[in-house]
Amino acid sequence: MGRLDGKVALITGGARGQGRSHAIGLAQDGADIAICDIDTGLATLPYATATAEDLVESETLVSATGRRCLAATVDVRDRDATREFVARVASELGGVDIVVANAGIINYAPLWEFSDEQWDEVLDTNLTGMWNTVRACVPHLIDQGRGGSIVLISSTAGLVAVPGSVAYTVSKHGVVGLMRSLAVELGRFGIRANAIHPTSVRTPMVENQATRDLFAGHEGGTAEVQEAISERLNLLPVAFVDPSDVTNAVRYLVSDDARWVTGTSLKVDAGATANPPGNWRGIN
Ligand SMILES: NC(=O)c1ccc[n+]([C@@H]2O[C@H](COP(=O)([O-])OP(=O)(O)OC[C@H]3O[C@@H](n4cnc5c(N)ncnc54)[C@H](O)[C@@H]3O)[C@@H](O)[C@H]2O)c1
Repeated sequence: MGRLDGKVALITGGARGQGRSHAIGLAQDGADIAICDIDTGLATLPYATATAEDLVESETLVSATGRRCLAATVDVRDRDATREFVARVASELGGVDIVVANAGIINYAPLWEFSDEQWDEVLDTNLTGMWNTVRACVPHLIDQGRGGSIVLISSTAGLVAVPGSVAYTVSKHGVVGLMRSLAVELGRFGIRANAIHPTSVRTPMVENQATRDLFAGHEGGTAEVQEAISERLNLLPVAFVDPSDVTNAVRYLVSDDARWVTGTSLKVDAGATANPPGNWRGIN
């Protein structure tokens, strides 16, 4: 018996990285899974997003747990496509109980050089995309009358500002407002909403040259320099947490162990935001 037996979990950005880990973790807990992702790159991003092959691999890995998996190519910026996907999930899998709004991107430039196109792409994906996801799902959760749990993946950048990434910081702060609004308006239906704030997670979003350059402060940044600086930002001695560390938080929040937990910001940040802007490790 899994603690999510009989539930359906919908996860955006499920083709790789944290989204894939969440899909597998929730399937291991007994939920049937729906995942979506894009299969074309985004115009302004300095790194590649997921491929169609990534999505198929996630579907295969989820199916190997014995749970059902519905996988579809859906861009969360596309409101109609998102609504159609959610309707299909509800009809084919028998409803939606758990929503993990995870799809997200990052882009870098000094604030005064951030282009309109970069701004739009990040805000459209990270904030409006999460809005489109929950806006499509919530009526199903309410109509079903069996409660539910919504988890929005924010970031440490939803609590403190990350230099060189204004749109990301703004979008991830916005996610907190969306989470609180969901908690305030949906509590009476037994629907909970919470946000997770990870520090750097070992995924393609940060394991790329653009992020190495940001951390190094110049082009040609190395993985070693990124790792050393990334570790200094955390209080605990770790540079990147693993996707599974965030999945553990998701598994808790969507389970009955968290049945009275709503409106919270759960940090999986190795202490990064406890003592901004840096930390005193090595001094005290
Ligand atoms: N990696 C980190 O250090 C880190 C830290 C804190 C928070 N986060 C957040 O975690 C979430 C997952 O990121 P990740 O680390 O797994 O990175 P990732 O790049 O591996 O995964 C993000 C996924 O979202 C998908 N995606 C992007 N735009 C989309 C769109 N418009 N529609 C549908 N899918 C889309 C990507 O194709 C990719 O599969 C994101 O919201 C990210 O902002 C990441």
